[in-house]
Amino acid sequence: MIFDKFSLKGQVGIVTGGGQGLGKVFCQAYAEVGADIIVAEANPETGEATAAELRAGGRRAIAVTTDVRDPASVEAMVSRAMAEFGQIDFLMNNAGITKWADAQSVSLDDWRNVIDVNLNGLFYCCQAVGKHMIARRSGRIINIASMSGFIVNRPQPQASYNTSKAAVIHLTKSLATEWAPYNIRVNAICPGYMGTAMAKPFFDDPAYGGEWIGMIPLKRPGEPEELAPLAVYLASEASSYMTGSAIVIDGGYTAW
Ligand SMILES: NC(=O)c1ccc[n+]([C@@H]2O[C@H](COP(=O)([O-])OP(=O)(O)OC[C@H]3O[C@@H](n4cnc5c(N)ncnc54)[C@H](O)[C@@H]3O)[C@@H](O)[C@H]2O)c1
Repeated sequence: MIFDKFSLKGQVGIVTGGGQGLGKVFCQAYAEVGADIIVAEANPETGEATAAELRAGGRRAIAVTTDVRDPASVEAMVSRAMAEFGQIDFLMNNAGITKWADAQSVSLDDWRNVIDVNLNGLFYCCQAVGKHMIARRSGRIINIASMSGFIVNRPQPQASYNTSKAAVIHLTKSLATEWAPYNIRVNAICPGYMGTAMAKPFFDDPAYGGEWIGMIPLKRPGEPEELAPLAVYLASEASSYMTGSAIVIDGGYTAW
């Protein structure tokens, strides 16, 4: 049956930034199709709340307080995941931040922080988990990039974010080719504006909301749940011939 290919029963996945927003919805979706989950989250309260919710739904789940910017923190999280679950079948790199600032005045600390979370931290997770996947000759990695990896948003200036997401798309392709011989598939999801804490307040702000909606053919932000089916597809056998792809879900934004 076609739906059987979407099952993650008996599989184990790590979701970074799973305490809120898109990451929490990805955790819920993966658990719904059978996966046990490690919530790798910087915020201990929200990470534990997500893990507790998954356990209440009958899955094995732990929260591991993790700062993806810190390679030692990432290594410790992966060691804990291996110790408790014995395998990692998929990795969802979702943790990310944004910073609006003009390129001429953005502080170098702010610039570095965005690149550190969105790009370097994502790479640390790929490397730390990739070693185990290479040893098993099996794994899927799903990177959350953004439509901002293809286009420049307006009117807000966010060069660091746009640059980090473009790099995530190219890193996805690079890892997909390097790790294909090990049966590891690596793909990216590139969302448009989604109704999470990161974007929602600005849709109510006349300085941004109207202009943003005007640029979206479907005339609304996406709901986090509208990304979940793709996240499951990419983590599962249903996507067995897909690697190195960056799939846009943006209500048509990049079509104009
Ligand atoms: N919301 C959107 O419109 C949108 C659009 C395109 C892409 N994205 C991307 O989707 C991902 C999730 O965005 P969101 O809207 O859910 O954001 P969010 O701010 O609601 O959630 C981000 C989560 O990541 C965690 N996090 C931040 N820094 C971390 C770190 N150093 N280590 C570990 N965890 C950390 C936060 O604690 C939080 O739980 C991000 O990569 C973002 O760039 C979002």
